[in-house]
Amino acid sequence: MIIEGIVTSVDSAGRLNVAPMGPVVTGDFASLLLRPFQPSTTFTNLSTTRCGVFHVVDTVDIMAQAAIGRLEQLPAVERADTINGFRLRDCCRWFEFTVDSVDASEARSRMPSTIVHRGETRPFFGFNRARHAVLETAILATRLHLLPRQHVLDMLNFLAPAVEKTGGAEEKCSFAMLQDFILNQIEQ
Ligand SMILES: Cc1cc2nc3c(=O)[nH]c(=O)nc-3n(C[C@H](O)[C@H](O)[C@H](O)COP(=O)(O)O)c2cc1C
Repeated sequence: MIIEGIVTSVDSAGRLNVAPMGPVVTGDFASLLLRPFQPSTTFTNLSTTRCGVFHVVDTVDIMAQAAIGRLEQLPAVERADTINGFRLRDCCRWFEFTVDSVDASEARSRMPSTIVHRGETRPFFGFNRARHAVLETAILATRLHLLPRQHVLDMLNFLAPAVEKTGGAEEKCSFAMLQDFILNQIEQ
């Protein structure tokens, strides 16, 4: 199963990077297969340091901003316990991992990883259609080069009502930011 969440990683100078990623997870996080595209910062950092933290989250603002490189400010973090990196303070679950191997033979790399430490911060808030719609829109925003323009517009039209009907101010704001970004990109 693929679980969409947030990976924090650091570069060789210890600088933090925050990016949404969808690793393949088996069981209750018995194993983690990360698949960062080259040349993302996450790919470079994980290849270099061979460790990071995967977070299960239930809010979408950071995911939306980081997906399109518009993180307003780095989220609050604390040092990881067992690896060279940082954990988000606001998340539901966190998993510190080490990267077992890096297969960079294709653009989408494969990094089987071992979870070395895990913890829970707070309970999952609950399913919300607007948050799922924002998540889908964030993924859409990172795949514009692969998708026909009309498909992108159809997706936006499909996703917008869920945000409007079931979202709060934060979800509406994230969706509007992503929609602006997407429309700007595809009109160019
Ligand atoms: C929910 C979600 C899941 C994503 N999963 C992946 C993934 O598994 N691999 C990947 O390379 N990019 C994935 N992306 C796209 C990256 O987050 C995006 O390209 C980002 O800009 C990479 O940031 P970085 O260069 O800081 O690593 C995902 C985006 C979203 C919104």
